[in-house]
Amino acid sequence: MISAQGPDQLSERDAKAAETGANATRYFQEKAKAGGAVDHARVAAIAGDALTALHDVIRKHDVTYPEYDALKGWLIQVGLDGEWPLFLDVFVEHVVEATVNANRHGSKGSIEGPFYVPGAPDLGSEGTLPMRDDEPGTPLDFGGQVRSVSGEPLPGATVELWHADDLGFYSQFAPALPEWNLRGVFTTDDSGSFTAHTVQPAPYQIPHDGSTGKLIEAAGWHAWRPAHLHLKVCAPGHQLVTTQLYFSGGDYLESDIASAVKPELVLSPQPKADGSGNEVRYDFVLDPA
Ligand code: DHB
Ligand code: FE
Repeated sequence: MISAQGPDQLSERDAKAAETGANATRYFQEKAKAGGAVDHARVAAIAGDALTALHDVIRKHDVTYPEYDALKGWLIQVGLDGEWPLFLDVFVEHVVEATVNANRHGSKGSIEGPFYVPGAPDLGSEGTLPMRDDEPGTPLDFGGQVRSVSGEPLPGATVELWHADDLGFYSQFAPALPEWNLRGVFTTDDSGSFTAHTVQPAPYQIPHDGSTGKLIEAAGWHAWRPAHLHLKVCAPGHQLVTTQLYFSGGDYLESDIASAVKPELVLSPQPKADGSGNEVRYDFVLDPA
């Protein structure tokens, strides 16, 4: 596809699954560099059970050689296109998140997804996310307080916020967007409060011109996530929570392809009195470390 800006100048609409995937793979490999010690007993138990589950599926469905070869070709292509971070975070991460966070008493978590980048600009306790002069979308004032489970406000907590733009694209993963577009880090003030000025994101469509899209199409599923804000909130002595917030009444809330919506995470922004956009509050509660 050639953008409206001409053949040489790509726009975010020209995003391709392979390019988005390659970027996501590169960022993930950077994050995962350290690696952990191998516990052979856990690897044997988990990998063994995963293979047994696959064997059971093959028997249950009388899988044929053409189907086995289709699977093999598809797995190879997902890797070649770098789409594993997209595929896994859409179809698998939500169960890891639910398992890991099962015993929290504070704010609900949700999946991180493949598009978090550490090191976004610091914006103090109140500020505007970096955005283009003509950034499309309804302006949104999003504020709140960070507290402990015992109810104390937490000054000096950090609230990292990143989200897609009004077309559903993320900076650093789609072409032509400024490096830190719609990404920033807030630090709560003496009362534990922060305020972010941004624009409401649009629903996000999994890049569908690659292998993940092929599977979605072959199965007759849709490729959409509801509009969402991504957050990482943490404070000294407390557990980091990685979560997402959604918008009531939005499309795909009931059919998120990534199964990552929880009722506690749905915002209801209201129009501001001065007509300059919407506003909403959400307080975060952190579990002790
Ligand atoms: C994916 C994208 C997201 O924005 C998200 O929140 C979760 C998953 C993905 O493309 O895999
Ligand atoms: Fe996302």
